[in-house]
Amino acid sequence: MSSISEITQVGVILLAAVGALTITVKALSFWKLLLDIYIRPGKSLKKFGAGTGSWAVITGASDGIGKEFAYQLAAAKFNIFLISRTASKLQDISNDIESKYQVKSKIYAMDFTKGDKRDYENLKEIIEEFVDIGVLINNVATNHDIPTPFILETDETINNIVEVNISGLLRITKIILPKMISSNKGLIINVGSFSGMIPTPYLSVYSASKAFMSTWSAALGAELKSKGIVVENVNTYFVVSAMSKIRRSSWLIPYPKPYVKSVLSKIGVPGGASQIPYSSNVYPSHAIINWIIANTFSLSFWVKKGLAQQEDIRKRALKKREREAAAAKAQ
Ligand SMILES: NC(=O)c1ccc[n+]([C@@H]2O[C@H](COP(=O)([O-])OP(=O)(O)OC[C@H]3O[C@@H](n4cnc5c(N)ncnc54)[C@H](OP(=O)(O)O)[C@@H]3O)[C@@H](O)[C@H]2O)c1
Repeated sequence: MSSISEITQVGVILLAAVGALTITVKALSFWKLLLDIYIRPGKSLKKFGAGTGSWAVITGASDGIGKEFAYQLAAAKFNIFLISRTASKLQDISNDIESKYQVKSKIYAMDFTKGDKRDYENLKEIIEEFVDIGVLINNVATNHDIPTPFILETDETINNIVEVNISGLLRITKIILPKMISSNKGLIINVGSFSGMIPTPYLSVYSASKAFMSTWSAALGAELKSKGIVVENVNTYFVVSAMSKIRRSSWLIPYPKPYVKSVLSKIGVPGGASQIPYSSNVYPSHAIINWIIANTFSLSFWVKKGLAQQEDIRKRALKKREREAAAAKAQ
C-alpha cells in the first residue's frame, strides 16, 4: 500500500514540476516579448545603405502600408523607387518625397495581375541603372473582395491573388537580389499577414499566399544570411487601409504610420513571431496577440474561430451588397 502512495506522490511531484517548468518557460517567453517590443533596438537602416545614395524599392507604394514605407525610407535618406498601378498617384508621391527629403525618386506603373513579361523586363532595365539597392519592400498584394467559399470564388480572383502575391513576389525579388548580393548587404521586408500563420477559411487563397510568403521568407532568409542580406516576413494583423476596409484606428488596429515606424525601428527583432523563423511582429498590440495565439490554444482552435468570424463578415458583406444593389435600382 505504502509503495502505491509513494508512486502517487512521485507522480504528483513530477506533474507539478512539469507544470512549473511550463509556466516558467511561458513567463520567460512573455518577458522576452516585452523586451523585444519595448526595449530591444533593431538594426540601423545605415547598415543597409541609408544616406549613401542607396535605393529602396517598394511595391504597392501608392497607398496604405507601402506608401508609408516610401515616406519613412525617404526620411531615412534612401532614394525611392515606387511601383503600383496608378501612375498619377505615384507621381504625386514621388514629387512630394523629392521636395520634402531631398532624395531621388522614380516611379513605374504596372498591374501585377497581368503578369506581363515586358513589365518585369522594364523593371530590370530601370534597376540596372541604380548603383546600389539597400531595401526591397515586397508589399503589393491582392485579396478576395469579400470572404468567399473557395468553390464560389471566381477564377479571375484566384488567378489575380496567385499572380500578385506569389509570382510577382518571386519575380521582383529575383530582379533585385543580384544587386544586393554583389554589395553584400540588403534588407528584404515581405509584408505578411496573420492569415499566413492561421489558415483563414473563406479567404483561403489569400491566406495560403501569405503562408507561402512566410515559408519562402524563412528558406530565403537562411540562404542569404551569410551574404549579409536580412529577410523578414512581417507578420501583420489589421492596419487601417483600403484593403482592410477599416477606417478608424484603435489600440489593436494602427494607422500605417505608427505600424511602419515600429517595423523599421526593429529590424531583426522577432517580437511576437519568434516561433516562425525569419518572421517578426513588433507592433506592440499585434505582437501580444501573436504571442497569445502561439502560446495558448491549438491551431485548430484558431482556425475554427476564424471560420466563425469570416462567416459573420461574409453575411454582413452580402447584406451590404444587397442594399447597394437595391439603392442603385431605385435611382
Ligand atoms: N491592412 C491590413 O489590415 C493588412 C493586414 C495584414 C497584411 N496586410 C498586407 O499589407 C500589404 C499592404 O496592404 P494595405 O492594407 O496597405 O493595402 P492598400 O492600402 O489597399 O494598398 C495596396 C497598394 O497596392 C497597390 N496595388 C494593388 N493592386 C495592385 C496591382 N494589381 N498591381 C500593382 N499595384 C497594386 C495599390 O495601388 P494602386 O491601386 O494604385 O495600384 C496600393 O498602392 C499587403 O501585402 C497586405 O496583404 C495588410
